[in-house]
Amino acid sequence: MTNARVTGLRSIELGVPDLERSAQFYRSVWGLEDVVADGDTVHLRGTGCEHHVVTLKQRPKAELLAVHFAATDRTAVTALHATAKAFGADAVSEPADLPRAAGGGFGFRFRTPEGLPLAIAADVTRHDEAASDRSRPTKLSHVVLNSARIDEQTTFFKDLLGFRHSDSTDMMEFIRCCADHHSVAFARSDGPSLNHMAYEMPSIDGLMRGAGRMKQNGFNIEWGVGRHGPGNNVFSYFIEPNGFVAEYTTEVEQVDEATYLPHAAEYWRNFPGRPCRWNMAGHPSNRLKAAMGGEIFPPEMPGEAPRCEEVMARTLGR
Ligand SMILES: [Fe+2]
Repeated sequence: MTNARVTGLRSIELGVPDLERSAQFYRSVWGLEDVVADGDTVHLRGTGCEHHVVTLKQRPKAELLAVHFAATDRTAVTALHATAKAFGADAVSEPADLPRAAGGGFGFRFRTPEGLPLAIAADVTRHDEAASDRSRPTKLSHVVLNSARIDEQTTFFKDLLGFRHSDSTDMMEFIRCCADHHSVAFARSDGPSLNHMAYEMPSIDGLMRGAGRMKQNGFNIEWGVGRHGPGNNVFSYFIEPNGFVAEYTTEVEQVDEATYLPHAAEYWRNFPGRPCRWNMAGHPSNRLKAAMGGEIFPPEMPGEAPRCEEVMARTLGR
């Protein structure tokens, strides 16, 4: 065992059956920006300095291809690779220099014992400047992964990748790799699959602007706007055109390593603000629950998003 650990969540890589349609959605409705397109692949960034937060790849069906994490340097990547190999993780690729078009760096891929595809890299190029636009996502905030072997998955992330435990509920385990209360959570379910991905907005005002843009383009808010218990983050959930669940979130609790104490499931079971601290959001729609469970809906883009540019112009940062 080494002290090398994962230090952040970088991006998510999704297989999509209609690359251009998906890229158009993430670009013009969700609020990301193209970084580079390379054959069957499109990388898009948020307003933060991370090289990209989403990678879309043309595939026959919608699927999670990888969750990408950061490590501090090449030495840490090499150490984490050795740890993963020693643990017997599946499909461990050798650490290697990564394609420059995708930000370069040095990293490897592997699968957790349950089969979740992950990647770790260091030295990935970052953008010099963050963009200033409160209505667009700054970064990928967290991913929630369905797991049928949640104790094993949580132990793998904590013992091998250096995650720390933040909170437990009857349904979920929340773990962190940076100051954010959770960068990963596991949902007790059939697995492994993607439950949802959350993108950070700069403020509640920005989240509402993004949510409004989604509504103007025909996407219902399937849960929210509300404020979660664990993590204290504000949320609004949508089903994007490939059937993946995408969340705008903001104000996620920042954890002080020296003083933070995790809460057990019993604490949250008796927490008065369930399922929303504001007692406003109610429960997720049945459609959202099915999509979170990994039931991929047929691709749809309500109205073919004819008003994307118009709506963006009305809501971007103003
Ligand atoms: Fe979430």
